[in-house]
Amino acid sequence: MIVYFNGQFIPKENVGISPDDRGFLFADGVYEVIRVYHGQLFQADRHWQRLARSLGELRMDGLDLEIFGQIAGRLLDENHLDNSDALIYIQITRGAAPRQHAFPGQETPVTIYAAASPFTPSPEKMERGVKIILMPDIRWARCDIKTVALLPNVLAYQQARDGGAEEAVFVRDGAITEGTHSNFAAVFAGQLVTYPQSHYILAGITRAVVLDLCRELNIPANEFPIFEKDLPHADEMMLLSTASEITPVAQVDHWQVGNGKPGPITQKLQQAFRKLVD
Ligand code: PDD
Repeated sequence: MIVYFNGQFIPKENVGISPDDRGFLFADGVYEVIRVYHGQLFQADRHWQRLARSLGELRMDGLDLEIFGQIAGRLLDENHLDNSDALIYIQITRGAAPRQHAFPGQETPVTIYAAASPFTPSPEKMERGVKIILMPDIRWARCDIKTVALLPNVLAYQQARDGGAEEAVFVRDGAITEGTHSNFAAVFAGQLVTYPQSHYILAGITRAVVLDLCRELNIPANEFPIFEKDLPHADEMMLLSTASEITPVAQVDHWQVGNGKPGPITQKLQQAFRKLVD
């Protein structure tokens, strides 16, 4: 596999990341994951904008993000993925410097890594729906920054997997925020509801696309907290993410959502999403 590392396209096994890298020492870095359908990047501009915002929030400004479109294209080429479904992963850290909490000097270059890997979607999950578990949201209060500091997400997701679930969805102050690597939406009496864009969730690209689709399809949509106690009254629920697109939720902990099958609004959005991708 050929990857991009600090200006070069090289075999993955030749990448050497310093033990002083601040990504390794402090999780001092950000990342993006972009979906590629048949060799084409999906919603690339939105991903670049989010990456720029994440970098800005870490005070790592001044990077020319234009290069990432070219890097992604070359990675797809080099790895013979130019006609395939794939994921592009990009990570940028504050570079390598002797360990101290303060930022290193301006002369320290950032570390940039990017890779393209083949991706096989799982249509059964999108057709049948998945189980989620609810977990307390113990993360920090800047979940809007796409940082690589993902330990709470990793621990919660592992608990979901151990319990036979596809995702753990976080609850903060009684409200459902988002999943460990997806946003969450539910349908109440024909209206789609999802947690407001704020510091408590990532501004998901799939979430933004779904809100666009709701406007196009005249599905009322509201960015409003859903309280855990109201969840059993939801007719439909869905997970939204780059990898899982729009995945219906069929079960929450030990109870079934609606009749356990993807609901009409979920299916309508899935069809519209497919059309957009095509
Ligand atoms: N995760 N919320 C969190 C915490 C996420 O990590 C993600 C994405 C999302 C959905 O965002 P988007 O629609 O832009 O993929 C929401 C990526 C894919 C990951 O960590 O692998």
